[in-house]
Amino acid sequence: MCGIIGYIGKDNSVKHLIEGLRALEYRGYDSAGAAFFDNEGRLCSVKAAGRLANAEAKLTPLPDSTCGIGHTRWATHGAPSDTNSHPHGTESLRLVHNGIVENYAAIKTELSDLGYTFESDTDTEVAAKLLDYYYMKEKLTAHAAIERMTSRLVGSWALGILFADAPDTIWAARQGSPLIIGVGKDEHYIASDITAILRYTKDYYQLDEGEIAKVTRETATVYKDGKEVIKELKTAHWDIEAAERGGYAHFMIKEINEEPAAIRTTLHSRIKDGLPYFSSDGFDTKIFARISRVHIVACGTAMHAGLIAKGVLGSLAKLPCEVEIASEFRYNDPLIGEHDLVLIISQSGETADSLAALRLAKEKGAATLAIVNVIGSSIAREADAVLYTMAGPEIAVASTKAYSVQTALLYLLSVEAALVRGKLDLDAAKMRVTELYERVPEAVAEMIARENEIKAIAEKIAPNEDLFFIGRGADYYLAAEGSLKLKEISYIHSEAYAAGELKHGTISLVTPGVPIIALCTVPRLYEKMVSNIRETKARGAETFMIASADTGVADGTADHILRLPAISAELAFLPAVCALQLIAYHAAAARGCDIDKPRNLAKSVTVE
Ligand code: F6R
Repeated sequence: MCGIIGYIGKDNSVKHLIEGLRALEYRGYDSAGAAFFDNEGRLCSVKAAGRLANAEAKLTPLPDSTCGIGHTRWATHGAPSDTNSHPHGTESLRLVHNGIVENYAAIKTELSDLGYTFESDTDTEVAAKLLDYYYMKEKLTAHAAIERMTSRLVGSWALGILFADAPDTIWAARQGSPLIIGVGKDEHYIASDITAILRYTKDYYQLDEGEIAKVTRETATVYKDGKEVIKELKTAHWDIEAAERGGYAHFMIKEINEEPAAIRTTLHSRIKDGLPYFSSDGFDTKIFARISRVHIVACGTAMHAGLIAKGVLGSLAKLPCEVEIASEFRYNDPLIGEHDLVLIISQSGETADSLAALRLAKEKGAATLAIVNVIGSSIAREADAVLYTMAGPEIAVASTKAYSVQTALLYLLSVEAALVRGKLDLDAAKMRVTELYERVPEAVAEMIARENEIKAIAEKIAPNEDLFFIGRGADYYLAAEGSLKLKEISYIHSEAYAAGELKHGTISLVTPGVPIIALCTVPRLYEKMVSNIRETKARGAETFMIASADTGVADGTADHILRLPAISAELAFLPAVCALQLIAYHAAAARGCDIDKPRNLAKSVTVE
């Protein structure tokens, strides 16, 4: 999604803007731009469709400047083009915007009647011209004009604003889209994402809903409803190394390699005397004895992590669990109330649909819990309780380590729920926790060490345009994630199917050579899976089996077999998903795809 960076200090602002925008590229974008004051105090703008390099070329040689704002745009209103890129504005001001102005059409008509003309198709230009109206025509102060303008908008925004007559100030505002103010020595930043400024500072103020900030070289003053608000200075715990590729070809493969350590870090403080321990998170797990149902609500990969939890909560804790797509949940009038726990899973903590689902759940009186990776993100702050995954920054658009830590944490939480509900004895719980903490990271590392074997499989499937992932039980849920990962980065069309369902229609698409990736990590379902694999083989499919270490596989069951490291069936999903991630990665690499920045995708989906 869109990214914002701003700099004011003694250094060259344009250099900081370019570096900040480069750090934000991972979020997904299709054009970039910047506004800055030159050394004669003139307000200048540069913008270009396409990669950041296009805007950068227009900014070379670096103009002398100590104050500026920059933006990467992910098109919503209007195609990617130079004109639609941000900043937008007038002679008197420039503005960059993350979010969506929903009522832009009505305001545009109103401004057109007042004589304003519009060059772009964007909602942002409407906001910029509305601000110009209050500043230039109604002669309000900068602060009052921003207040008036934002009071008229419906939607979400993080804004960075420069006024032509104030070359020593950046204004910022937030409603529904994240924005922070970075604090350096004699310099300040604004950024939509901490990774944009980590290279320079870890100290920041977080803007809250409805706040407006005036940022100068020396000061950052935050206002809400016209009154100054004292903000707490926070320190980011992520290192710049964590947000850099560190010698790997792509962030995605770096992040897969980080999985074993990330799983341990996420679990470490939540295990005491060999048992789950959530007291230091401030989450009272006794709630599992009171509630009648868990609703897991999330999007994409995070939703697939929820599917794994649904299986484990059911089998270990005998707790009914629904998994719902956040964008559906919010409009389906969900039947939830005080006997339900709504669990939101989100890496970014800013996904618009997941955040809206959380708000709806609270409105309906359900207890809410969030599993989130980004500290201080909106979902983390608004849920009744939060369990942070500790994966460090996830930069690749394709989520990998976030899924692994989410599912590992959800498994631990399910063991705790089972204990609280009296469905598991202490020894059985300890055995599971030990395997989760000791064996799972090792098994994932063993899978990664076999990257070349997995790459060979990926290269076999890479030339195809269609394939199927099949599985039963937890393997069906894994298939969903394997299929999503492959689609999003390699652009190979694939479908995840419950293996037994294929013959109810879709097997008509299985023709000679179509690859079938069959997940067989659940021993009790193995024989059934073998029958389903044979059905596809009989139609000429090229079959790939991902099987647990101890399953006896008869010769000829599948054309290719990848054995998982030794691990219990309940936890096999973790090394198995790692194999699926590596298949997607190497298939995309073999097809020459832009792995970290797949087309049309954004890292953090802050629009509906
Ligand atoms: C896929 C992917 C997306 C996200 C989804 C939710 O690789 O990354 O499907 O999982 O957009 O994002 P978060 O977890 O940030 O809410």
